[in-house]
Amino acid sequence: MRSMVGGALLLCMSAIAALAADGKDIAANGTSGGALPCSSCHGEHGEGTPASGFPRLAGLNVQYIEHQLESFKNGTRKNDVMQPIVAALSDDERKTIANYYADMTAPKAEAEPAAPAAIAAGAKLAATGDWPKGMPGCGQCHGAAGLGVGATFPRLAGQSATYIENALQSWKAGDRKNDPMGLMASVASKLNDDQIKNVAAYYESLPVAAPARSPETKP
Ligand code: HEC
Ligand code: HEC
Repeated sequence: MRSMVGGALLLCMSAIAALAADGKDIAANGTSGGALPCSSCHGEHGEGTPASGFPRLAGLNVQYIEHQLESFKNGTRKNDVMQPIVAALSDDERKTIANYYADMTAPKAEAEPAAPAAIAAGAKLAATGDWPKGMPGCGQCHGAAGLGVGATFPRLAGQSATYIENALQSWKAGDRKNDPMGLMASVASKLNDDQIKNVAAYYESLPVAAPARSPETKP
Protein backbone atom coordinates (compact mmCIF):
# COMPACT_ATOMS: atom_id res chain seq x y z
CA MET A 1 0.00 0.00 0.00
CA ARG A 2 2.69 2.42 1.00
CA SER A 3 4.65 1.76 -2.18
CA MET A 4 1.51 2.33 -4.26
CA VAL A 5 0.96 5.69 -2.65
CA GLY A 6 4.64 6.49 -3.06
CA GLY A 7 4.48 5.48 -6.71
CA ALA A 8 1.41 7.66 -7.32
CA LEU A 9 3.14 10.55 -5.62
CA LEU A 10 6.25 10.11 -7.76
CA LEU A 11 4.14 9.96 -10.92
CA CYS A 12 2.31 13.07 -9.85
CA MET A 13 5.54 14.90 -9.08
CA SER A 14 7.07 13.99 -12.41
CA ALA A 15 3.88 15.13 -14.18
CA ILE A 16 4.20 18.51 -12.44
CA ALA A 17 7.89 18.67 -13.34
CA ALA A 18 7.07 17.91 -16.99
CA LEU A 19 4.42 20.65 -17.05
CA ALA A 20 6.83 23.18 -15.58
CA ALA A 21 9.63 22.16 -17.92
CA ASP A 22 7.37 22.47 -20.96
CA GLY A 23 6.18 25.94 -20.00
CA LYS A 24 9.73 27.09 -19.51
CA ASP A 25 10.75 25.54 -22.82
CA ILE A 26 7.89 27.14 -24.78
CA ALA A 27 8.64 30.54 -23.21
CA ALA A 28 12.35 30.35 -23.97
CA ASN A 29 12.41 28.47 -27.28
CA GLY A 30 8.95 28.55 -28.83
CA THR A 31 7.28 25.38 -30.13
CA SER A 32 7.96 22.86 -32.90
CA GLY A 33 4.66 24.02 -34.40
CA GLY A 34 6.23 27.42 -35.06
CA ALA A 35 5.11 29.61 -32.12
CA LEU A 36 7.75 32.26 -31.39
CA PRO A 37 9.41 32.23 -27.94
CA CYS A 38 7.13 34.21 -25.63
CA SER A 39 10.05 35.59 -23.61
CA SER A 40 11.43 37.50 -26.59
CA CYS A 41 8.55 39.97 -26.15
CA HIS A 42 7.07 39.26 -22.70
CA GLY A 43 10.47 39.23 -20.95
CA GLU A 44 12.58 36.46 -19.47
CA HIS A 45 10.47 36.48 -16.28
CA GLY A 46 7.11 37.43 -17.83
CA GLU A 47 7.62 41.02 -16.68
CA GLY A 48 6.71 42.45 -20.11
CA THR A 49 8.36 45.19 -22.17
CA PRO A 50 6.40 48.28 -21.13
CA ALA A 51 7.68 50.72 -23.75
CA SER A 52 6.73 48.38 -26.62
CA GLY A 53 3.31 47.59 -25.19
CA PHE A 54 4.18 43.91 -24.63
CA PRO A 55 2.14 43.14 -21.51
CA ARG A 56 3.32 41.71 -18.23
CA LEU A 57 2.06 38.10 -17.95
CA ALA A 58 3.66 37.07 -14.63
CA GLY A 59 1.04 36.52 -11.94
CA LEU A 60 -2.06 36.98 -14.12
CA ASN A 61 -4.88 34.60 -13.23
CA VAL A 62 -4.54 31.27 -15.06
CA GLN A 63 -8.14 31.17 -16.33
CA TYR A 64 -7.83 34.77 -17.49
CA ILE A 65 -4.70 33.91 -19.53
CA GLU A 66 -6.36 30.81 -21.02
CA HIS A 67 -9.42 32.86 -21.95
CA GLN A 68 -7.24 35.45 -23.72
CA LEU A 69 -5.33 32.79 -25.66
CA GLU A 70 -8.63 31.18 -26.72
CA SER A 71 -9.92 34.62 -27.74
CA PHE A 72 -6.91 35.23 -30.01
CA LYS A 73 -7.54 31.79 -31.48
CA ASN A 74 -11.25 32.23 -32.16
CA GLY A 75 -10.82 35.82 -33.34
CA THR A 76 -12.91 37.56 -30.65
CA ARG A 77 -9.67 39.35 -29.78
CA LYS A 78 -7.81 40.63 -32.82
CA ASN A 79 -4.07 41.30 -32.84
CA ASP A 80 -1.70 40.80 -35.79
CA VAL A 81 1.21 39.74 -33.55
CA MET A 82 -0.52 37.35 -31.13
CA GLN A 83 -3.03 35.64 -33.44
CA PRO A 84 -0.49 33.70 -35.56
CA ILE A 85 1.48 32.76 -32.43
CA VAL A 86 -1.59 31.32 -30.69
CA ALA A 87 -2.72 29.57 -33.88
CA ALA A 88 0.55 27.61 -33.69
CA LEU A 89 -0.10 26.35 -30.11
CA SER A 90 -1.90 23.08 -29.34
CA ASP A 91 -4.63 22.97 -26.66
CA ASP A 92 -2.15 21.39 -24.24
CA GLU A 93 0.53 23.97 -24.97
CA ARG A 94 -1.97 26.78 -24.31
CA LYS A 95 -2.84 25.31 -20.90
CA THR A 96 0.79 24.65 -20.02
CA ILE A 97 2.00 28.13 -20.87
CA ALA A 98 -0.98 29.76 -19.09
CA ASN A 99 -0.08 27.85 -15.90
CA TYR A 100 3.58 28.72 -16.31
CA TYR A 101 2.97 32.49 -16.42
CA ALA A 102 0.24 32.46 -13.75
CA ASP A 103 2.68 30.85 -11.30
CA MET A 104 5.48 33.31 -12.01
CA THR A 105 6.46 36.17 -9.78
CA ALA A 106 8.65 38.82 -11.32
CA PRO A 107 9.74 42.26 -10.23
CA LYS A 108 8.16 45.17 -12.04
CA ALA A 109 9.77 46.03 -15.39
CA GLU A 110 11.50 49.39 -15.61
CA ALA A 111 9.34 52.05 -17.24
CA GLU A 112 9.73 55.77 -17.87
CA PRO A 113 7.59 57.42 -15.13
CA ALA A 114 4.62 59.46 -16.38
CA ALA A 115 3.87 63.05 -15.32
CA PRO A 116 2.56 63.20 -11.73
CA ALA A 117 -0.49 65.22 -12.87
CA ALA A 118 -1.48 62.47 -15.32
CA ILE A 119 -1.08 59.80 -12.63
CA ALA A 120 -3.19 61.85 -10.18
CA ALA A 121 -5.98 62.37 -12.73
CA GLY A 122 -5.90 58.65 -13.53
CA ALA A 123 -6.06 57.75 -9.83
CA LYS A 124 -9.21 59.84 -9.43
CA LEU A 125 -10.90 58.19 -12.42
CA ALA A 126 -9.90 54.74 -11.15
CA ALA A 127 -11.32 55.46 -7.70
CA THR A 128 -14.55 57.32 -8.48
CA GLY A 129 -15.24 56.86 -12.21
CA ASP A 130 -17.11 59.40 -14.28
CA TRP A 131 -20.68 59.44 -12.97
CA PRO A 132 -22.08 62.00 -15.45
CA LYS A 133 -21.22 59.40 -18.12
CA GLY A 134 -22.53 56.54 -15.97
CA MET A 135 -19.13 54.99 -15.49
CA PRO A 136 -18.13 53.35 -12.19
CA GLY A 137 -14.55 53.58 -10.92
CA CYS A 138 -12.23 50.95 -12.39
CA GLY A 139 -11.41 49.82 -8.85
CA GLN A 140 -15.02 48.61 -8.39
CA CYS A 141 -14.17 45.69 -10.63
CA HIS A 142 -10.37 45.52 -10.72
CA GLY A 143 -9.84 45.90 -6.97
CA ALA A 144 -8.93 49.05 -5.06
CA ALA A 145 -5.18 48.55 -5.61
CA GLY A 146 -5.65 47.22 -9.17
CA LEU A 147 -4.56 43.75 -8.08
CA GLY A 148 -7.49 42.05 -9.81
CA VAL A 149 -10.41 40.00 -8.47
CA GLY A 150 -10.65 36.28 -9.20
CA ALA A 151 -10.55 34.88 -12.72
CA THR A 152 -12.80 37.53 -14.29
CA PHE A 153 -11.27 40.90 -13.39
CA PRO A 154 -7.59 41.01 -14.33
CA ARG A 155 -4.82 42.69 -12.41
CA LEU A 156 -3.83 46.08 -13.85
CA ALA A 157 -1.26 47.19 -11.24
CA GLY A 158 2.20 47.48 -12.78
CA GLN A 159 0.92 46.71 -16.28
CA SER A 160 2.47 48.57 -19.24
CA ALA A 161 0.69 51.90 -19.82
CA THR A 162 1.11 51.56 -23.59
CA TYR A 163 -0.50 48.13 -23.41
CA ILE A 164 -3.43 49.40 -21.30
CA GLU A 165 -3.99 52.22 -23.79
CA ASN A 166 -3.93 49.76 -26.68
CA ALA A 167 -6.37 47.46 -24.89
CA LEU A 168 -8.87 50.27 -24.23
CA GLN A 169 -8.56 51.52 -27.82
CA SER A 170 -9.08 47.94 -29.09
CA TRP A 171 -12.41 47.76 -27.25
CA LYS A 172 -13.42 51.15 -28.62
CA ALA A 173 -12.55 50.01 -32.14
CA GLY A 174 -14.39 46.69 -31.70
CA ASP A 175 -11.20 44.60 -32.13
CA ARG A 176 -11.62 43.05 -28.68
CA LYS A 177 -15.06 41.57 -28.09
CA ASN A 178 -14.23 38.75 -25.71
CA ASP A 179 -15.23 40.20 -22.37
CA PRO A 180 -18.11 38.91 -20.26
CA MET A 181 -21.35 40.86 -20.96
CA GLY A 182 -19.46 43.55 -22.87
CA LEU A 183 -18.44 45.18 -19.57
CA MET A 184 -15.18 46.63 -20.86
CA ALA A 185 -16.55 47.61 -24.26
CA SER A 186 -19.07 49.75 -22.40
CA VAL A 187 -16.42 51.26 -20.07
CA ALA A 188 -13.99 52.02 -22.93
CA SER A 189 -16.69 53.64 -25.07
CA LYS A 190 -17.16 56.27 -22.33
CA LEU A 191 -13.48 57.25 -22.06
CA ASN A 192 -11.82 60.00 -24.10
CA ASP A 193 -8.17 59.81 -25.18
CA ASP A 194 -6.92 61.92 -22.25
CA GLN A 195 -8.75 59.78 -19.71
CA ILE A 196 -7.30 56.65 -21.32
CA LYS A 197 -3.74 58.01 -21.13
CA ASN A 198 -4.17 59.14 -17.51
CA VAL A 199 -5.70 55.94 -16.19
CA ALA A 200 -3.06 53.87 -18.02
CA ALA A 201 -0.29 55.99 -16.45
CA TYR A 202 -1.87 55.50 -13.02
CA TYR A 203 -2.06 51.72 -13.25
CA GLU A 204 1.49 51.44 -14.59
CA SER A 205 2.70 53.44 -11.57
CA LEU A 206 1.30 50.96 -9.03
CA PRO A 207 3.39 48.19 -7.43
CA VAL A 208 2.86 44.65 -8.76
CA ALA A 209 2.17 43.17 -5.33
CA ALA A 210 0.26 44.39 -2.30
CA PRO A 211 2.65 46.04 0.15
CA ALA A 212 3.30 43.92 3.26
CA ARG A 213 1.27 45.17 6.19
CA SER A 214 3.37 47.05 8.70
CA PRO A 215 3.20 45.72 12.28
CA GLU A 216 1.35 48.84 13.52
CA THR A 217 -1.64 48.24 11.20
CA LYS A 218 -2.11 44.60 12.22
CA PRO A 219 -5.55 44.07 13.79
C1 HEC B 1 6.62 39.32 -31.17
C2 HEC B 1 6.19 39.66 -29.83
C3 HEC B 1 5.35 38.65 -29.05
C4 HEC B 1 5.61 37.31 -28.82
C5 HEC B 1 6.77 36.48 -29.36
C6 HEC B 1 4.56 36.83 -27.96
N1 HEC B 1 3.69 37.85 -27.65
FE1 HEC B 1 2.03 37.72 -26.46
N2 HEC B 1 1.59 39.66 -26.84
C7 HEC B 1 2.30 40.49 -27.69
C8 HEC B 1 1.58 41.75 -27.85
C9 HEC B 1 2.00 42.92 -28.72
C10 HEC B 1 0.41 41.63 -27.06
C11 HEC B 1 -0.72 42.67 -26.91
C12 HEC B 1 -1.78 42.38 -27.91
C13 HEC B 1 -2.91 43.36 -27.85
O1 HEC B 1 -2.65 44.56 -27.69
O2 HEC B 1 -4.06 42.90 -27.94
C14 HEC B 1 0.45 40.33 -26.44
C15 HEC B 1 -0.53 39.84 -25.58
C16 HEC B 1 -0.51 38.59 -24.98
C17 HEC B 1 -1.48 38.13 -24.01
C18 HEC B 1 -2.66 38.90 -23.45
C19 HEC B 1 -2.30 39.44 -22.08
C20 HEC B 1 -3.43 40.12 -21.38
O3 HEC B 1 -3.16 40.74 -20.33
O4 HEC B 1 -4.58 40.04 -21.83
C21 HEC B 1 -1.11 36.85 -23.67
C22 HEC B 1 -1.80 35.94 -22.68
C23 HEC B 1 0.09 36.53 -24.43
N3 HEC B 1 0.44 37.61 -25.22
C24 HEC B 1 0.75 35.32 -24.37
C25 HEC B 1 1.85 34.97 -25.15
C26 HEC B 1 2.45 33.66 -25.17
C27 HEC B 1 1.98 32.49 -24.33
C28 HEC B 1 3.48 33.70 -26.07
C29 HEC B 1 4.40 32.57 -26.50
C30 HEC B 1 3.79 31.34 -26.95
C31 HEC B 1 3.53 35.06 -26.61
N4 HEC B 1 2.52 35.79 -26.03
C32 HEC B 1 4.44 35.52 -27.52
C33 HEC B 1 3.51 40.21 -28.27
C34 HEC B 1 4.13 38.97 -28.31
C1 HEC C 1 -18.02 46.57 -14.47
C2 HEC C 1 -16.71 46.00 -14.24
C3 HEC C 1 -15.51 46.72 -14.84
C4 HEC C 1 -15.17 48.04 -14.69
C5 HEC C 1 -15.93 49.14 -13.99
C6 HEC C 1 -13.89 48.20 -15.36
N1 HEC C 1 -13.47 47.00 -15.87
FE1 HEC C 1 -11.75 46.67 -16.91
N2 HEC C 1 -12.23 44.71 -17.17
C7 HEC C 1 -13.39 44.12 -16.73
C8 HEC C 1 -13.41 42.73 -17.16
C9 HEC C 1 -14.51 41.71 -16.91
C10 HEC C 1 -12.21 42.52 -17.87
C11 HEC C 1 -11.71 41.22 -18.52
C12 HEC C 1 -12.09 41.19 -19.97
C13 HEC C 1 -11.67 39.92 -20.66
O1 HEC C 1 -11.92 38.83 -20.12
O2 HEC C 1 -11.12 40.04 -21.75
C14 HEC C 1 -11.49 43.78 -17.87
C15 HEC C 1 -10.27 43.97 -18.49
C16 HEC C 1 -9.60 45.18 -18.52
C17 HEC C 1 -8.33 45.40 -19.17
C18 HEC C 1 -7.52 44.38 -19.93
C19 HEC C 1 -6.38 43.86 -19.07
C20 HEC C 1 -5.46 42.97 -19.83
O3 HEC C 1 -4.57 42.41 -19.19
O4 HEC C 1 -5.61 42.84 -21.05
C21 HEC C 1 -8.00 46.70 -19.00
C22 HEC C 1 -6.77 47.42 -19.51
C23 HEC C 1 -9.05 47.30 -18.20
N3 HEC C 1 -10.02 46.36 -17.93
C24 HEC C 1 -9.05 48.62 -17.79
C25 HEC C 1 -10.08 49.22 -17.08
C26 HEC C 1 -10.10 50.62 -16.72
C27 HEC C 1 -8.98 51.60 -17.01
C28 HEC C 1 -11.28 50.85 -16.08
C29 HEC C 1 -11.82 52.16 -15.54
C30 HEC C 1 -11.80 53.28 -16.45
C31 HEC C 1 -11.99 49.57 -16.04
N4 HEC C 1 -11.23 48.61 -16.64
C32 HEC C 1 -13.22 49.39 -15.44
C33 HEC C 1 -14.39 44.73 -15.97
C34 HEC C 1 -14.43 46.07 -15.60
